[in-house]
Amino acid sequence: MNNVLILDFGSQYTQLIARRVRELNIFCEIFPFDKIPTDLSSYKAVILGGSPASVRSEEVLHPDLSEIRGKKPLLAVCYGAQYLAHFSGGEVAASNTREYGRANLSFIKDNEIFLEGVSENSQVWMSHSDSIKQLPTNGVRIASTKDVENAAYKIDGETTYAIQFHPEVYHSTDGKQMLENFLVKIAKVEQTFTPNAFVEEVIAEMKAKIGNDKVVLGLSGGVDSTVAAVILNKAIGSNLYCIFVNNGLLRKNEFQSVLDQYKGMGLNVKGVDASQRFYDALAGLDDPEAKRKAIGNAFIEVFDAEANLLTDVKFLGQGTIYPDVIESVSATGGPSATIKSHHNVGGLPDFMKLQIVEPLRMLFKDEVRRVGATLGIDPELLGRHPFPGPGLAIRILGDITPEKVAILQEVDAVFINGLKAHGLYDKVWQAGAILLPVNSVGVMGDERTYEKVVALRAVESTDGMTADWVHLPYEFLQKVSNDIINHVRGVNRVVYDISSKPPATIEWE
Ligand code: XMP
Repeated sequence: MNNVLILDFGSQYTQLIARRVRELNIFCEIFPFDKIPTDLSSYKAVILGGSPASVRSEEVLHPDLSEIRGKKPLLAVCYGAQYLAHFSGGEVAASNTREYGRANLSFIKDNEIFLEGVSENSQVWMSHSDSIKQLPTNGVRIASTKDVENAAYKIDGETTYAIQFHPEVYHSTDGKQMLENFLVKIAKVEQTFTPNAFVEEVIAEMKAKIGNDKVVLGLSGGVDSTVAAVILNKAIGSNLYCIFVNNGLLRKNEFQSVLDQYKGMGLNVKGVDASQRFYDALAGLDDPEAKRKAIGNAFIEVFDAEANLLTDVKFLGQGTIYPDVIESVSATGGPSATIKSHHNVGGLPDFMKLQIVEPLRMLFKDEVRRVGATLGIDPELLGRHPFPGPGLAIRILGDITPEKVAILQEVDAVFINGLKAHGLYDKVWQAGAILLPVNSVGVMGDERTYEKVVALRAVESTDGMTADWVHLPYEFLQKVSNDIINHVRGVNRVVYDISSKPPATIEWE
């Protein structure tokens, strides 16, 4: 196997290291620092990540590296570089000031393979409050910055390298080059992890795992479940049974158009219109969490009933992706499992007792899109904005009625179609409209109106964890506002949400 092991010490950037490595067409996996795999034979190289902790105070973050250092090519980043020094006979002490921001490298050692293709003075990103005062035994300094003497070092006679800065962030101009130098030139890892290779491998893996058994999978219209279904379809053909539930909270015309698209892709899919059941479950509920719960429960009931109509199903297919799988380490050093666990297996609906198959569980979102493109899935489907499971129910503040859903579907359609028509859709990570529980006074013709207010929301983000509101052109907002008020009965006022996350969230509920 051509695999790289990344040890997580709780840095917010650990996933970014993994993404940069994957961009080099090299497969990698993240493990918490205290769960180092016992069998390291498949790993060609190891990377130690950063941490908000200090090696001086957080004894708990001190894993035993003796099976790694000197035995595998090793790159230690930020906290990792400090811990490597601490672990190997060097000394780490508090810096006089916290070193945060841009710095420029000057090379100490010429012809250093780690720095090939990196320009002298190259900008790097620093974020640390301790410094390596003394290098470890056999440590050789290879680069410094104005404030950080030991910005990069290696250990003589080993393929062990350490850098105080973060190569994975955008501000480190040659960071990717250094990662490539380490992985390809020093560790000799082959760059074989491409979407095509992944598809071939995962189809073979699914075939072997599932054999002639049946799989049931819930499609949502989103990218992940669609790509997972196409992969399973290629692996097991008509033994894959897909169910697409209309919860009555989808976008305008979405149920039929996506269902048609799925059928056109050759998927064995059953559309189940359960809208009324969801409206009944939601009737009178206005608390956001109560609404989410009611929708979740209704979905489980509908899906369970449908899955039970099939006989001899052995597997449940899911579109789980890597960020949902990684166990992250909390900033305080205590490892915290974020993987959801199913307690109380006896109380689960029948379909949840099935064995799980997750063809995308090792991929990041952008990789899922690339794999989807390799599989020939329509780029429009692959480029769709994320859409929450509870759908428009969490964009209608307060209680849900079919009439309110119909109004919001119209408003949302004007907004989304407008974004597409003006070439803005692909520049926005997620967009939608919110129906507020507020009536305001307006005037139309000679008549006074007293109708609903809607808010429009468009955000830029990479993972939904943080988001900035998008500065949509005023002319566009003006046109969309006019179109909404002129075409959607019951709405006489449009506002634009200019809050970022944090402190606001993307959804209003
Ligand atoms: P927030 O509102 O937390 O949203 O900033 C972050 C991302 O998550 C989506 N979201 C949900 N997705 N079920 C989902 O499947 C939910 O209950 C839910 N709530 C929020 C939201 O659309 C955004 O992409």
